[in-house]
Amino acid sequence: MGLFTAQAPPASRSMDVSDKSVQVIDSAANRSATLPVVTGTLGDPAIDIGKLHKETGFFTFDPGFVATAATRSAITFIDGDAGILLYRGYPIEQLALQSNFLEVAYLLINGHLPNKAEFSKFENEITHQSMMQEALKNFLLGFHYDAHPMAMLCASIASLSAFYHDTLEISDPEHRRLAAIRLIAKMPTIAAAAYRYSIDWPIRYPHNNLEYVTRFLHMMFEVPSEPLHLNPVVAKALDLLFILHADHEQNASTSTVRLVGSTGANPYACVAAGIAALWGPAHGGANEAVLKMLAKIGDAKNVGAAIAKAKDKNSGFRLMGFGHRVYKNFDPRAKIIREMCHKVLTDLNVSDPLLDVAMELEQAALKDEYFIERKLYPNVDFYSGIIYKALRIPTEMFTVMFAIGRTAGWVAHWLEQHVDAETKIGRPRQIYTGAAQRDYVSIDQR
Ligand code: CMC
Repeated sequence: MGLFTAQAPPASRSMDVSDKSVQVIDSAANRSATLPVVTGTLGDPAIDIGKLHKETGFFTFDPGFVATAATRSAITFIDGDAGILLYRGYPIEQLALQSNFLEVAYLLINGHLPNKAEFSKFENEITHQSMMQEALKNFLLGFHYDAHPMAMLCASIASLSAFYHDTLEISDPEHRRLAAIRLIAKMPTIAAAAYRYSIDWPIRYPHNNLEYVTRFLHMMFEVPSEPLHLNPVVAKALDLLFILHADHEQNASTSTVRLVGSTGANPYACVAAGIAALWGPAHGGANEAVLKMLAKIGDAKNVGAAIAKAKDKNSGFRLMGFGHRVYKNFDPRAKIIREMCHKVLTDLNVSDPLLDVAMELEQAALKDEYFIERKLYPNVDFYSGIIYKALRIPTEMFTVMFAIGRTAGWVAHWLEQHVDAETKIGRPRQIYTGAAQRDYVSIDQR
């Protein structure tokens, strides 16, 4: 039993924490609330503040949701201090080594690893949903030639609700399942089409005789005039990157999908909103920003100046690919990606001076007091761009790659929220800091 008292002046307010509940007392106002403590399978407990305002008149204030759990979820677990990431209980290291992206997508959605029959059915259904309508292709052709592929992806995914309005009954489990399949299936087709359009190459149709990642690579790189000979290293590397990006519990884009989903919006609108959230450089857009940053640093000898700039709060510059809201230790995905980066470059016989810059930057940051004190480590985006570059994926497509992988997580969370009896519309409160009530003054008297 611990007793926490809020700072003076309101000594009359206190919180009494037991194993199962927390009592918040506002003795000045003679009111109190007993708040249950909620625990999960793993991780820190949370105080259920749902009744706090009704019973005490207090809101909680938590910009950026630093200490707020918005839902229960059985999909992904992160221990940020220990650097642990589990999908449905399975360590990311084991999935990265032994699984494949579609199997991971099945796992995230269904909660268990598929047997052979389940996997084959899932893969078959994804394959047969991978085409996009000609009208959607025409829609893409309406973009300006230099449109960013994330803009095209976001708009095209939102437009899918116009193509599938006959299966948008979100209370129908079959409609929900179908939407999840369609989103995972069509995301690579639309992504590749957006890329092909941006380089003025003819858009390729998906080959049903290829598996998910290879099919995507064919749509990206195959030319009509000759067959594409793919190095299997490329497909393997991309599959692994998709696994590592598949889910990350309540990150900004997934929380966006859930927030939009909480209003009852259709799944395509929800995932389009997730894509928009992912695009920001503080989130998935960081992979593109990392490569641009490395190119700008240009040489290992300029790393010291870059570190100094990142520490200078007035510079407006942050080390992209460093730091994480939850990980205060190595991001386990970054460890896997760094190892893979060396392997891919060796296997493809690519030498990239940006890798030297990245390694020098990492070493310098890890030794620097500023980064040590703030527990800033390389995150998933730090090395992924160098791999994408070695796979000949252009920089503007990096965040699109992230979106393809993360679609599995987005739809898994969207499906989960629709069978969760606790789901209600997401509606945060605020601390109002504007003008107090005042009377309107007509324009000639101002
Ligand atoms: N470079 C320099 N300083 C940093 C960095 C960085 N990359 N990240 C955090 N800091 C400093 C920050 O200035 C603050 O310092 P102080 O305490 O002196 O004010 C302290 O570290 C804590 O930072 P914060 O902004 O309060 O932390 P946050 O949890 O709100 O932000 C983050 C997390 C990922 C947005 C941030 O670390 C960042 O902007 N990193 C660079 C962008 C990036 O790589 N994003 C990808 C994230 S992982 C993949 C994904 O989510 O998509």
